[in-house]
Amino acid sequence: MVLPLPLPLVPAPVSVVAGDGRLPLTATMRVSGPSVAADQLASAVERRSGIRLSAAEGGEAEIRLRVDPAISAAEGYALTVADDVEIVGADDAGLFYGVQTLLQLLREDDGGWGFLRAEVADQPRFGRRGVMLDVARHFFDVDEVKSFIDSTSALKFNHLHLHLSDDQGWRIHIDAWPKLTELSSATSVDGHPGGFYTKDDYREIVAHAASRHMVVIPEIDLPGHTHAIGVAYPELVEAPVISEGLAAESERLGQALPVHGRTYTGWGVGHSSVRIHEERTYEFVRDVVREIAELTPGPYIHIGGDESLGTPQDDFDLFAERATAIVIEEGKTPVAWHEMGSADGIAEGTVGQYWGMKVPRGSHAAEAAHFVERGGALIMSAADAAYLDMKYTEDYPLGLTWAAVIDVRTAYEWEPTAVLAVPDAAILGIEAPLWSETTRTLGEVEQLVFPRAAAHAEVGWSPQEAPERNWESFRVRLGAQAPLWKAEGVEFHPADEIPWSDR
Ligand code: ACM
Repeated sequence: MVLPLPLPLVPAPVSVVAGDGRLPLTATMRVSGPSVAADQLASAVERRSGIRLSAAEGGEAEIRLRVDPAISAAEGYALTVADDVEIVGADDAGLFYGVQTLLQLLREDDGGWGFLRAEVADQPRFGRRGVMLDVARHFFDVDEVKSFIDSTSALKFNHLHLHLSDDQGWRIHIDAWPKLTELSSATSVDGHPGGFYTKDDYREIVAHAASRHMVVIPEIDLPGHTHAIGVAYPELVEAPVISEGLAAESERLGQALPVHGRTYTGWGVGHSSVRIHEERTYEFVRDVVREIAELTPGPYIHIGGDESLGTPQDDFDLFAERATAIVIEEGKTPVAWHEMGSADGIAEGTVGQYWGMKVPRGSHAAEAAHFVERGGALIMSAADAAYLDMKYTEDYPLGLTWAAVIDVRTAYEWEPTAVLAVPDAAILGIEAPLWSETTRTLGEVEQLVFPRAAAHAEVGWSPQEAPERNWESFRVRLGAQAPLWKAEGVEFHPADEIPWSDR
């Protein structure tokens, strides 16, 4: 028996029924409806096929776009491709996602271009589907970040976490502390060029993300990962703590050890901390949080909290309590890596980001659970499944292996509600982070992100019980994304596990 091929949709929709054959795409096909969605659709169709949809009446077939809140849950949509196309979004985001699904149904065969006929009803499993880009270890400029937004939002990701500061560089201008970008932004890992966003640059990123229905979550990593702050303002940061592990790893990599007040270009972690008992530190945190909050229409500010290995635990907890309170006072919801859950008095409602393993180690599960005990919730980024900077195979040229080697199947087969003993309702969703120690260019970033981000997109969007929500179906549907990525210039890794298709 030959099973029918699934329709080439990633992430798998809630319900999809294949129709008969294709609706041909021609230049007389008209698109009507809200102008932003119609323009985005027409541009993407033209980039892919060279065919420009018409705005004139009287063509053979029509693509009708509209929003109707009655249709389904937030971000949901209904899509029909028959003798015309109709996409009804529950809201503007739902319409955008319906358009992304339609673009996956656009295929070329010997008869030319057409849309596969289908009837789709869809809505997300999780409201929170994120990707993270580390612009601190290596800097990516505004156009590169916009490309990253385009390629990930097409997979229905709706949050972009920007890791804006780390030991190696500070990447956003702060008026009250101008030396951060003057003195701490010029370089990246290995002494590669750095950079930073002006406030206008940052607004441009936020606006572009909004046009693709992505919320930007800015992160300033504190109290550790702060060596770069000390290059600009040495009085805010302690002298580096050089552990045996850091010394050995730096020697193995041929990287110089961190020196207080001087630029650091290695990628060792855990050596830096802001001064916890100086009031000036909290003036700094408040100014930075306030200025970033002013640039941030979304509800969240991420204040880091990971790997403060040289910070005494009581000091760390004190800092976590004060810093999360400052974010609340400045009108935003704090987000923190799970370690901050060690602090009893972390601000109520703080969102934790779990980055431990699928089988939690040590205190990680308890720290994560404490966010829920304090009325917050969790984002799941299990490092041995969701970290996009892990290598696909031991010998893959880019990426690291400290958490795991993560092939596409491993990225696909993890369940975010099965990691921690917290109620399912406490899991907001998932985030797949890309740390940039080894990625110097956007193309290198894309090779690590694609195709695995598509696996995480399906983990975050598709219901567990959807008929196609399994590896055998996924790998075929994933292979069918190759022509879309090629048309958009996305440098995906053609992993051996996947039957890539040309059309
Ligand atoms: C992390 O990977 N240090 C959050």
